[in-house]
Amino acid sequence: MALKVLQSFVSSVPTLWRLSMLLLLYQASHKTALASTRLGGNETDHLALLSIKAKITHDPMLITSSWNDSLHFCQWKGVLCGQRHLRVTGLNLESYNLAGFISPSIGNLSFLRIVNLKNNSFQGGIPHEMGRLFRLRFLDLSTNLMGGKIPGNLSHCNNLRILSLKQNKFIGNLPKELGSLSHLVELHIPFNNLTRAIPASFGNLSSLQYFSAEENMLEGNLPGSLANFSTQLQHLILGRNKISGSIPPDIGNLVSLNTLDLVYNQLTGSIPTSIGRLHKLQEVAFGGNNFSGEIPSSIGNLTLLNALGIEENNLQGNIPSTLGNCQGLLLLQLYGNNLSGSIPREVIGLSSLSQSLDLSRNSLSGPLPQEVGNLRNLGLLNLSYNKLSGEIPNSLKSCISLQYLYLDNNSLEGVIPQSLESLKGKLDLSFNDLEGEIPAGEVFQNVNAISVSGNNKLCGGIPALELPSCPDDKPRKKKMPLGLPLLIPTICGVLSIILISSILILCWLRKMRNQPSVASSSMDSWRIISYNKLLKATNGFSSSNLIGTGSFGSVYKGILNPSDQKAIAVKVFNQQRRGGTKSFMAECKALKNIRHRNLVKIITACASVDFQDNDFKALVYEYMENGSLEYWLHPVLSQTGKRPTDGMFIDGLDLHKLAKLALPERVMEIVDQNLLEEEEGASINSSNQMKIEKISHPPFHKTSSSMKYFHN
Ligand SMILES: *[C@@H]1O[C@H](CO)[C@@H](O)[C@H](O)[C@H]1NC(C)=O
Ligand SMILES: *[C@@H]1O[C@H](CO)[C@@H](O)[C@H](O)[C@H]1NC(C)=O
Ligand SMILES: *[C@@H]1O[C@H](CO)[C@@H](O)[C@H](O)[C@H]1NC(C)=O
Ligand SMILES: *[C@@H]1O[C@H](CO)[C@@H](O)[C@H](O)[C@H]1NC(C)=O
Ligand SMILES: *[C@@H]1O[C@H](CO)[C@@H](O)[C@H](O)[C@H]1NC(C)=O
Ligand SMILES: *[C@@H]1O[C@H](CO)[C@@H](O)[C@H](O)[C@H]1NC(C)=O
Ligand SMILES: *[C@@H]1O[C@H](CO)[C@@H](O)[C@H](O)[C@H]1NC(C)=O
Ligand SMILES: *[C@@H]1O[C@H](CO)[C@@H](O)[C@H](O)[C@H]1NC(C)=O
Ligand SMILES: *[C@@H]1O[C@H](CO)[C@@H](O)[C@H](O)[C@H]1NC(C)=O
Ligand SMILES: *[C@@H]1O[C@H](CO)[C@@H](O)[C@H](O)[C@H]1NC(C)=O
Ligand SMILES: *[C@@H]1O[C@H](CO)[C@@H](O)[C@H](O)[C@H]1NC(C)=O
Ligand SMILES: *[C@@H]1O[C@H](CO)[C@@H](O)[C@H](O)[C@H]1NC(C)=O
Repeated sequence: MALKVLQSFVSSVPTLWRLSMLLLLYQASHKTALASTRLGGNETDHLALLSIKAKITHDPMLITSSWNDSLHFCQWKGVLCGQRHLRVTGLNLESYNLAGFISPSIGNLSFLRIVNLKNNSFQGGIPHEMGRLFRLRFLDLSTNLMGGKIPGNLSHCNNLRILSLKQNKFIGNLPKELGSLSHLVELHIPFNNLTRAIPASFGNLSSLQYFSAEENMLEGNLPGSLANFSTQLQHLILGRNKISGSIPPDIGNLVSLNTLDLVYNQLTGSIPTSIGRLHKLQEVAFGGNNFSGEIPSSIGNLTLLNALGIEENNLQGNIPSTLGNCQGLLLLQLYGNNLSGSIPREVIGLSSLSQSLDLSRNSLSGPLPQEVGNLRNLGLLNLSYNKLSGEIPNSLKSCISLQYLYLDNNSLEGVIPQSLESLKGKLDLSFNDLEGEIPAGEVFQNVNAISVSGNNKLCGGIPALELPSCPDDKPRKKKMPLGLPLLIPTICGVLSIILISSILILCWLRKMRNQPSVASSSMDSWRIISYNKLLKATNGFSSSNLIGTGSFGSVYKGILNPSDQKAIAVKVFNQQRRGGTKSFMAECKALKNIRHRNLVKIITACASVDFQDNDFKALVYEYMENGSLEYWLHPVLSQTGKRPTDGMFIDGLDLHKLAKLALPERVMEIVDQNLLEEEEGASINSSNQMKIEKISHPPFHKTSSSMKYFHN
């Protein structure tokens, strides 16, 4: 089984495959030549490993204590060898709490293909000598304390597929020489202190699929050559740098783009119309720049879009009604611009919206369209600080998931609709021109839940609101608005409608209770779950449970109840940067109804604070082995070119494993033995024995699933 899986992966990377086959043939005809070099070679490796050990100053888990002469170095912990020639092909020392420096002697391990030193405390720079490792495919130094400049010499490692230097202290510029790494598929350099501009030469990275560099100090313009980046590029994540200039108009060439994250830079100019050609885009994050001009209507072409954020910019003009075509949109943030005109019906009626619709702090005018009632899944609607007029539409009562409604600081008039009293969370109607009596419903009984100040013609309500009492002497119970004699004849009608609908709702609730389907819209079937529980379910959000990331959040797999072993997928939204003192448990309740039919079944939601008191939001989905998760995890899947319906899933490689394979930190589990051994001339079939031996002191101590995967 394992072999079949490996083979199918390999065949999905045709160049890798062809290369290995070539080497296989080459080595078959040069066996004698290689055999004679064997003797000298293994001693070089031996010495190099010993000097690597000598530079490790702290080894609390005693990993390198096995690096002694009682064992052949191929059996040393964390050392991988090709079985045929016993040369070192991999170093896997991930998460061993090692400290020290990387010895320049690493450059003498000339057969190295895999170096994984992730999550240790190595310091110092990357030795230039690593440039001699021309066979190197995978280099992961992420989450260490390394610094200095990235050596341009790494460009000699021209077989590099994956390079991750994430979360270190690297400084200086990105060497332009790296632009020659024509096989590079993933480049991860976020959370460092890199400066200067992205070199134009990166436009030559013709295999690049993933480029992340967020949270550095990169400056300069986006290179014009950006448009020349690989048409395979799926993730471009450059948020929180100091990049200026405008987006190259030809960005529309990057037709595979799935995530485009440029948040909090200093970008100016308009958003290119050509963005409408990027049909695969799912997440667009442009917030916190200085984009001007109008939102191009071509954005309506992006029918797979899940999240669009262009908040805190300098946009003008109307919100394009074409946005209504983006029927998978879960989150839309356009707050803090200078958008004008009315809110298009097509947009306010976009029923997929579930996480948040925030159009606050613009210059939007006209009435709030009736279509707002389509937002059945929406938890937060923020339209504050605009110029909206007219009455608050009654259709808001259909927004059954709505927990936060902010309509403050507009010019809304008329009475507060009775229907708003069913709202369970927070309601801000302050600084409008509303009139009449405050309705009597529950939300209006809680002074912390509502804000109605700055409406001079309101009256009644609980005393804490400090409004004048209504001049009407009719009993409160009737909740009749004042000054509206027009409504008097209809009161009986209203009352009977309320009565009838209460009966209907009661019947419906009873019916729902008898149908325990998760997909039902019964409020009862929603549970709220604590941060603690999710923490436990996902092994502390461990990287081995991570199945995908995007700029708006990460998806983890987990087991909620050890008793039923039912898998869940947890989408954790990135912390919202906007402040505000919210009641997070209230938010849990707010989110509990959010779901979207086109996605997968949402089991529950959580909004809370984590142990560092950070805002925490998550949605919990039923984990679907058979592909419904595909839509949600599309970024991950498109990286491998595999879909859950492909044959390989039948052999038991589920989406979870596949997704893991697609992630950089897992890739070495695939590239690892079989490719190495092919190059060493061993046939695939005869290598099983060796594989199992090696795994018996596995390099991947944490991921027992990967062991299973090799043993099968
Ligand atoms: C090097 O290879 C020779 C011959 O295969 C073997 O006798 C010797 O033990 C090896 N030395 C090391 C350090 O692996
Ligand atoms: C590494 O190789 C260089 C030159 O080939 C040699 O001078 C040096 O001693 C080697 N270092 C180790 C630790 O083997
Ligand atoms: C050498 O490594 C072996 C295997 O891990 C270990 O049992 C032994 O104690 C080590 N010897 C020394 C001197 O550290
Ligand atoms: C990093 O390594 C430490 C020590 O082995 C481990 O406890 C921790 O879980 C690792 N963190 C990640 C994100 O892998
Ligand atoms: C840079 O790489 C080249 C070619 O692999 C190598 O010969 C040279 O020694 C390296 N430079 C340094 C300073 O190590
Ligand atoms: C980045 O560099 C700046 C100035 O050189 C320094 O103040 C800052 O502490 C550095 N940040 C990190 C994370 O190293
Ligand atoms: C890209 O590669 C081509 C051919 O290898 C080379 O001529 C060109 O100068 C490179 N572009 C940049 C910006 O480095
Ligand atoms: C993009 O690539 C083409 C063809 O290789 C080249 O002619 C053009 O100058 C490149 N554009 C930029 C901005 O690098
Ligand atoms: C929008 O999509 C249509 C059809 O796919 C295409 O013809 C059109 O050029 C696209 N518009 C833009 C601005 O990309
Ligand atoms: C944003 O751009 C406008 C011109 O479009 C300019 O006047 C303004 O100063 C810029 N603001 C910032 C914060 O850069
Ligand atoms: C907002 O846009 C209007 C035109 O719609 C313009 O008159 C006004 O100056 C803009 N305000 C800001 C702060 O840019
Ligand atoms: C709603 O928008 C206003 C203005 O942008 C902001 O101050 C407030 O924090 C927002 N409320 C929420 C819950 O996001």
